Amino acid sequence: MSSKPANTPGEFWDQRYADDNYVFGQEPNQWMAANAALIQPDMKALVPGDGEGRNGVWLAQQGLQVTTLDASAVGVAKARKLAAAQSISLDARIVDLRDWDLEPDGYDLLVSAFLHVNVDDRSDIHRKFAQSLKPGGLLLLEGFAPDHLGYGRGGPSVKEMMFTTDSLREDFGTMMNIEHLEEARIELTASERHGGPAVVIRLRARRKLP
Ligand SMILES: C[S@@+](CC[C@H](N)C(=O)[O-])C[C@H]1O[C@@H](n2cnc3c(N)ncnc32)[C@H](O)[C@@H]1O
Repeated sequence: MSSKPANTPGEFWDQRYADDNYVFGQEPNQWMAANAALIQPDMKALVPGDGEGRNGVWLAQQGLQVTTLDASAVGVAKARKLAAAQSISLDARIVDLRDWDLEPDGYDLLVSAFLHVNVDDRSDIHRKFAQSLKPGGLLLLEGFAPDHLGYGRGGPSVKEMMFTTDSLREDFGTMMNIEHLEEARIELTASERHGGPAVVIRLRARRKLP
């Protein structure tokens, strides 16, 4: 791993993804998998912050048309490699979400898994997520809650980058109907680095109809 200080999310995650291992494993996010019954092959899906591609690849395997976005060029290269190994088509793009020009009303499904950004950027990025969904489009989001810090491993090291039910209600409640929003203690099974007991927030919401 390089010791050069990372100035951007892309540089930070490039360093974490530098070796051949898949840091978050290759299995889909547990919250997305728990909602699999709502995911249909004719959907167009957007997966921002998909890192090494485990969620985008799983959705593409289900027959969806999938675009993934991530600031880490190393992560995106690994996502493309994972898709190629499964012989599936994945539109994996290197994008910093802070500069992202969204495609409004473009997607049936958006999955955001453990995408923690600086507190000053969070609401703006979440607003763009909501706008990128078609009316009725489905959002599945999971991330760490501040109480996760008690476990001393995994996730951001500052509580301001974590999610609360209040912050997500604030970010999405105007544009979206919230169907499920909870803080839960779960057992993460993704990988050795992203495994064990965790405190998470889980959100399922749909973009309001005009
Ligand atoms: C904790 S990892 C989770 C990766 C993936 N969602 C998963 O669950 O396997 C967070 C990801 O968010 C990406 N990310 C963080 N800030 C970002 C930004 N501003 N723009 C784009 N991607 C960002 C990182 O590059 C990293 O791949």
